[in-house]
Amino acid sequence: MPAKWLKDTVFYEIYPQSFYDTNGDGIGDINGIIEKLDYIKGLGCNALWINPCFDSPFKDAGYDVRDYKKVAPRYGTNNDLYRLFHIAHEKGIRVLLDLVPGHTSEEHAWFQESKKANPTAYADRYIWTSGWFQGCRNIPVIGGEAERNGTYLLNFFKCQPALNYGFLKPEESWQMPVDAPGPLATREAIKDVMRFWLSHGCDGFRVDMANSLVKYDDENKSATSAVWQDVRRMLDAEFPDAAMVAEWSCPPQALRAGYDMDFYLDWGTNGYGALMRDYNQAGKKPGDADNSYFRAASTHDMSKFLGEYMAWYADTRELGYISLITCNHDTTRPAFNMSPRELKLAYAFLFTMPGVPFLYYGDEIGMRYLDVPTKEGGYTRTGSRTPMQWNRGKNLGFSEGCADSLYLPVDPAPDAPTVEAQAGDPDSLLETVRAILALRHAQPDLQADAGLELLCAEPGQPLVYRRGSLALAVNAAARPMEAALDAQGKQIIFAIGSAEEKDGRLQLGAQSFAVLK
Ligand code: NOJ
Repeated sequence: MPAKWLKDTVFYEIYPQSFYDTNGDGIGDINGIIEKLDYIKGLGCNALWINPCFDSPFKDAGYDVRDYKKVAPRYGTNNDLYRLFHIAHEKGIRVLLDLVPGHTSEEHAWFQESKKANPTAYADRYIWTSGWFQGCRNIPVIGGEAERNGTYLLNFFKCQPALNYGFLKPEESWQMPVDAPGPLATREAIKDVMRFWLSHGCDGFRVDMANSLVKYDDENKSATSAVWQDVRRMLDAEFPDAAMVAEWSCPPQALRAGYDMDFYLDWGTNGYGALMRDYNQAGKKPGDADNSYFRAASTHDMSKFLGEYMAWYADTRELGYISLITCNHDTTRPAFNMSPRELKLAYAFLFTMPGVPFLYYGDEIGMRYLDVPTKEGGYTRTGSRTPMQWNRGKNLGFSEGCADSLYLPVDPAPDAPTVEAQAGDPDSLLETVRAILALRHAQPDLQADAGLELLCAEPGQPLVYRRGSLALAVNAAARPMEAALDAQGKQIIFAIGSAEEKDGRLQLGAQSFAVLK
């Protein structure tokens, strides 16, 4: 069963580089997160996911960890992070760190040991072939970089050698079974990292590439799942309140593997993409076709999303939660193609669905996707990683440093959205997000485990769904429509745009949303 506290939790994802800089070096820091906890709480988020903040050469923005137990000096110290846990808890905010179990940086001490010609205690911590001229089928391996007579497997970028959790079906002498001493030691080493942070006060982990551990061909992920079930047993025994969210995007597998939550991610042209990113993401130009459901001009067909989501939902209801996200550090910001009004409807939907939602920093004000050069292995992802826009002050309030010291440039547009400009304006995106999240916290029927029933999902008609005793309807189109819902005797308790009951029917204005009780 998922951790109980998740029932009424809304996460805020923080890319620490870009959130708030308190020492003027142009890069966000842990103290900056501490200073903004009241803002986050006021927004209605009561948990954080912080992208990797550990010592790293930052060739992949910190997903190349050099020391799992040390905060990267650019963000502060371990004590700063412990202080963040403490102050966040006092304010009722939980904190998840980002665990990267599938690979390390090539600069990690384990890898330096593993590379040596003479075997050390870490010889089997990574996956090495038995000779410098030997590869592995068509799997990415790399050689010529070590004294050791072998090539090694990569997990993602070249700087990220794969940790060794063994092979489900070893075919070669150098491929170890999952229960060989080397793979078992890797597993214990990752548990040790988890224990370290949990015992210092963190509340759990977002797990990077959680499905990537056991190698080929763990097709239905049975062997990788067994590793996580083992980790879950450790958590249940030692840290029963800890929560884990997987980067897996296959809830039936991830939740059976012992995860509390799994993200529904924008991988290829899947159902999630149909909501806000139904366009050609590679090199999209303004004016290109875009059939995202929440665009006013789309065909408003949610079947691709609902087909996938509802099947997963039915299968996993008793096991844990599906997490819907506004965006993340890998995904194009939704403001790239959507107007503030379209964003309001999209967020209203995402935040009133079952499961545990995640809001990516800056999406609450509609921060734009910027055309900026790649930074730290971000490539096209970099445009979604620019500094948070707090106010119209220097560097939009992100940092007192000089502009050219900033991690990434701030949005140069004269109308760049800011927290300050939107705060207090009931029509703003920011205040709409606050209002929706306040409603979610006030209505147990909108929370993670309350039921969901689709009442109308016909393309071209308002979407109508039930959550417990509440009925919800979205009209994403640019014209008024009647929702297929008996509104007789029901009260409209929340609306975006216009909603009224006439003769027992719910009339929704163009681009409107309503919750009825
Ligand atoms: C997924 C992370 O979200 C992404 O940012 C990173 O580059 C890869 N995993 C590799 O760790």
